[in-house]
Amino acid sequence: MFKLFAFFLLFISVRANNRSKPNVLLIIVDDLRPSLGVYGCKNAFTPNIDKLAKKSVVFTNAFTQQALCAPSRNSFLTSRRPDSLHLYDFYSYWRDTVGNYTTIPQLFKENGYFTYSVGKVFHPGISSNFTDDAKFSWSKTPYHPPTEKYKEAKVCVTGNGSLARNLLCPVIVKEQPGGSLPDLESLSAAKDFLKYHNQITNLPYFLAVGFHKPHIPIKFPIEYLKYHPLEDVQIPLNHQQPSLLPKVAWNPWNDIRNRDDIKALNISFPFGNVPDGTIKRIIQHYNAAVTYIDDLIGDLLKSIDKNTIVVLTGDHGWSMSEHGEFSKYSNFDVATRVPLIIHVPGVTNLQSVSKEIVELVDLFPTLVDLTELTNPLEVCLTGNVNLKLCTEGKSLMPLINPHLSDKIYTKYAAFTQYPRPGEYPTSKPDSDQPHLRDIKIMGYSIRTVQYRYTEWVEFSNKNFTPNWKNIYGRELYDHFIDPDENLNLITRLQLQDVANALSKQLRLGWRYI
Ligand SMILES: *[C@@H]1O[C@H](CO)[C@@H](O)[C@H](O)[C@H]1NC(C)=O
Ligand SMILES: *[C@@H]1O[C@H](CO)[C@@H](O)[C@H](O)[C@H]1NC(C)=O
Ligand SMILES: *[C@@H]1O[C@H](CO)[C@@H](O)[C@H](O)[C@H]1NC(C)=O
Ligand SMILES: *[C@@H]1O[C@H](CO)[C@@H](O)[C@H](O)[C@H]1NC(C)=O
Ligand SMILES: *[C@@H]1O[C@H](CO)[C@@H](O)[C@H](O)[C@H]1NC(C)=O
Repeated sequence: MFKLFAFFLLFISVRANNRSKPNVLLIIVDDLRPSLGVYGCKNAFTPNIDKLAKKSVVFTNAFTQQALCAPSRNSFLTSRRPDSLHLYDFYSYWRDTVGNYTTIPQLFKENGYFTYSVGKVFHPGISSNFTDDAKFSWSKTPYHPPTEKYKEAKVCVTGNGSLARNLLCPVIVKEQPGGSLPDLESLSAAKDFLKYHNQITNLPYFLAVGFHKPHIPIKFPIEYLKYHPLEDVQIPLNHQQPSLLPKVAWNPWNDIRNRDDIKALNISFPFGNVPDGTIKRIIQHYNAAVTYIDDLIGDLLKSIDKNTIVVLTGDHGWSMSEHGEFSKYSNFDVATRVPLIIHVPGVTNLQSVSKEIVELVDLFPTLVDLTELTNPLEVCLTGNVNLKLCTEGKSLMPLINPHLSDKIYTKYAAFTQYPRPGEYPTSKPDSDQPHLRDIKIMGYSIRTVQYRYTEWVEFSNKNFTPNWKNIYGRELYDHFIDPDENLNLITRLQLQDVANALSKQLRLGWRYI
């Protein structure tokens, strides 16, 4: 009898043990800047994300490591920076080029979780070995929505009723090829997974859902425009090219120019202005697409159980006329700052706001600490072949649960970088998305609470190192007086000490902050 009882207890404890681990839902929204109600954005309407934020920590100074999808995603999913992955474009897979580094989902999978990827989590293609790194990271074949194959199809209705490959593309869903849209299909797949998971396995889950919108083409169900009347849209004051911006810093937004509706405007390359009316419509459509995703997120959140950690973020920002620019591809805050909202059941019961500077590489050690998956991750040692499980970030645990943690969070700067093929903006090679073989310059940027300082320097695409002696441009912005980064102060004599100190910090790198 006693034996049976002991066995029963053991059984309960094993079960309880696995079950007491919280589930994890990681939501990645493609090209989402903090255009959300909770971030104070006047053009936004996002009631569901705002509701999630009411029981979360909202990080208002979170930054990506590079404002481009594949480098950003591979970076935060491995907690290694672009310079460690040697990935600044879309065309290499870290396990085959730099090292067999562990990913976030892989560690969860190896430690008793069932891991599943829906939609765009890893960037598809070479950078995840055409499989979303499935062999290592996922317990089940990743899901890709079938209608994603119509991404570039001519389906946007123009004024005269013809179809085009537009930037702005509100659609009637049932008239679309396949009768759906990728994010609607991803939502269904994620909900199906949540519905049946408990019947299939006892393991807690790590579910990553990557929504494709608001990434271009800005294609979304037309009914979401009703939340965004054109007359309410506010155009940023700084929708002009700043006069003191070094040419190398400019991203000519080639992807936007190449859409049929924008091409028709015949805007001169690389510095011509987009008409105000078009700027307004871009802002309106981007925010309508965000409202669409917000709706899907609301539906998804209704389907998870209470014991689920929820992380919501984007891979990088997206400029909507700020500095006269569009899209990502730069080191400005509009391109590098991302929303980051973390809900931890039983811990973040009320909304709190953290203004600390945090980076997306911090996500991995944070999730490890929140789930006590393994011992806290150690900081990676220098050197390229460092295969040990480690992090190039810092755990945000002290900011999420100050009571539980004996550590304090100390990081006073975020690092980002952006490559260029040359000093003057070009469409071929594409200044916005240069291939590794064309990269000749790297813009290294450090962001503290008060300053953003950027140095554009010669870069070797053979040994992946900067030559700090050959400088193509410098930028210094003071966020206390110029939060929109309009006025490059680098030539101000009285700020030379500040600039030199930041330059020194930038060259020392992330290990010394
Ligand atoms: C890479 O890591 C995985 C998981 O730890 C391991 O199974 C695999 O053998 C490693 N591959 C190489 C080439 O070391
Ligand atoms: C609990 O997790 C371990 C792996 O950490 C696994 O081997 C075991 O089967 C799980 N138990 C149950 C009841 O799911
Ligand atoms: C990447 O994919 C190729 C082709 O399928 C395969 O040969 C190679 O082993 C894969 N790399 C890793 C690290 O799994
Ligand atoms: C309809 O408008 C588009 C541009 O909006 C133009 O390219 C196309 O030629 C027009 N088609 C007709 C039939 O007028
Ligand atoms: C486009 O603009 C250029 C000058 O910027 C001008 O020479 C050309 O005629 C314009 N083309 C059209 C179709 O308006």
